[in-house]
Amino acid sequence: MLVLFAHPRPDRSEVNLPLFETAQNVQGVTAVDLYARYPDFSIDVDSEQAQLIAHDVIVFQHPLYWYSAPSIMKEWQDLVLEHGFAYGLHGKALHGKTFMNAITAGALSEAYSTEGMNHADLRSLLAPFEKTADLCGMRYLAPFVMYGAGRALEDSRLDIHRNGYDDLLKALVADRLDLDKATHASVLTDVLDDFILKGEAV
Ligand SMILES: Cc1cc2nc3c(=O)[nH]c(=O)nc-3n(C[C@H](O)[C@H](O)[C@H](O)COP(=O)(O)O)c2cc1C
Repeated sequence: MLVLFAHPRPDRSEVNLPLFETAQNVQGVTAVDLYARYPDFSIDVDSEQAQLIAHDVIVFQHPLYWYSAPSIMKEWQDLVLEHGFAYGLHGKALHGKTFMNAITAGALSEAYSTEGMNHADLRSLLAPFEKTADLCGMRYLAPFVMYGAGRALEDSRLDIHRNGYDDLLKALVADRLDLDKATHASVLTDVLDDFILKGEAV
């Protein structure tokens, strides 16, 4: 399982950096900090493609920036997801893999609803990621989200979310997440316990 992490100012990160440390400590997870690996944005396409081939589950972990991801993730998508590799007649390298976003958002959950400030739920706003996964033949799971990230520390919500992220990553590694439920959910955050299978792996 591969976690690609992007934060342009990790020195100022209150929530993503600790979450990334959680990912780094889960056995079976390859955790990559894209800004640390490519400080000049000079992405090694061959090595990123080889890394994708070697993993079945790909997670983009990032703060929500302008309803999307920090810019290196767009650069990474533009260069790595090539025609003939990720899509097109002979581009089947990612077929059958699983993809998801693990996101932190500054706004509260109420803002991400049809009645709220953004007039749309978060999953709908992440359509470019979902459609990219679809085009590349990957299964797209609902995002794992922390809303109100700017107040997580003072509200003592970070540890709960870190534990949830740890549970999610371990379930994905062990093939114990109900992928059908996770595909159809709106977000994974509050329903996670119901989606993790306790018995036999699926
Ligand atoms: C450039 C920029 C763009 C942002 N865009 C959004 C946004 O579109 N929606 C939102 O809810 N929060 C937005 N935020 C707030 C961040 O998502 C929030 O600060 C971040 O998730 C906190 O995580 P961190 O402590 O790891 O930096 C934005 C913040 C920055 C700096």
